[in-house]
Amino acid sequence: MTDRRNVDAGWQKLGTSLTHAGRAAAPEGGTYVNLPVERGSTVLFPSLQSMNRKGLERYDHTSIYGAMGSPTQHELEKLIAQIEGGTDCQIVSSGLAACTTPLLAFLKAGDHCLLVDSIYGPTRRFAENMLRRFGVDISYFPPCASRAEVEEYVQPNTRIIFTESPGSHTFEVQDIPMLADVAHSHGARLFLDNTWGFGIFAPFEHGVDVSIQALTKYPAGHSDVIAGAITVADQASWHILRDAPSSLASLPDRTTAG
Ligand SMILES: Cc1ncc(COP(=O)(O)O)c(C=O)c1O
Repeated sequence: MTDRRNVDAGWQKLGTSLTHAGRAAAPEGGTYVNLPVERGSTVLFPSLQSMNRKGLERYDHTSIYGAMGSPTQHELEKLIAQIEGGTDCQIVSSGLAACTTPLLAFLKAGDHCLLVDSIYGPTRRFAENMLRRFGVDISYFPPCASRAEVEEYVQPNTRIIFTESPGSHTFEVQDIPMLADVAHSHGARLFLDNTWGFGIFAPFEHGVDVSIQALTKYPAGHSDVIAGAITVADQASWHILRDAPSSLASLPDRTTAG
């Protein structure tokens, strides 16, 4: 685990703050070591006003309706955001959903999306089979491209540069600050599939806007969970992202984070 300090936790090392994270204190003062799994769909509120008020808090990791996340899942989101070093995290039904959901949230017909050629295969399939059908232009840059070479692939309508480092199967390591700079200087966002770098590579310290995790892999660890996480760097991105998973129904099972 990285040696990064966590400013919010009073300059604790990240490894220290993680031993306490994901564990909301029980009102009576005591708490279980592991947060109990809460299952549910409809949430009851004491009044119509409080229900309406709660509905306005959908960006706040709070319980509004089961399909918008359970208390256990909200704690997991805070934990992943802390490890990745972002502001907010959304957990979704799989690592692949963590790749596809933000693409749908941030792109529209007429946009161009530039992906690294070594991207995870099913992400590439989604770009080819779905995004193209919805009018998004797709192209790929070589994983060893220099800045000048990447610039050649950028178009006036490029809105996302999507990379993965190291890349699936071929493992080229990307120059993330360079890619972030290219993206930002052309009005685009940098997406990183950071599955291989979980807890080691701090994406937001290097200019990444959206970081993706297949929680299925290292974070779950036992080959018994399928889940994904999307973490963002700022509130503007969070507001764009947050509504997409519930519209697309790409949310995880109620028991995820158990
Ligand atoms: C780099 C990377 N991203 C995304 C995924 C997708 O994760 P999942 O299998 O949970 O859909 C994988 C799975 O192998 C992966 O290796």
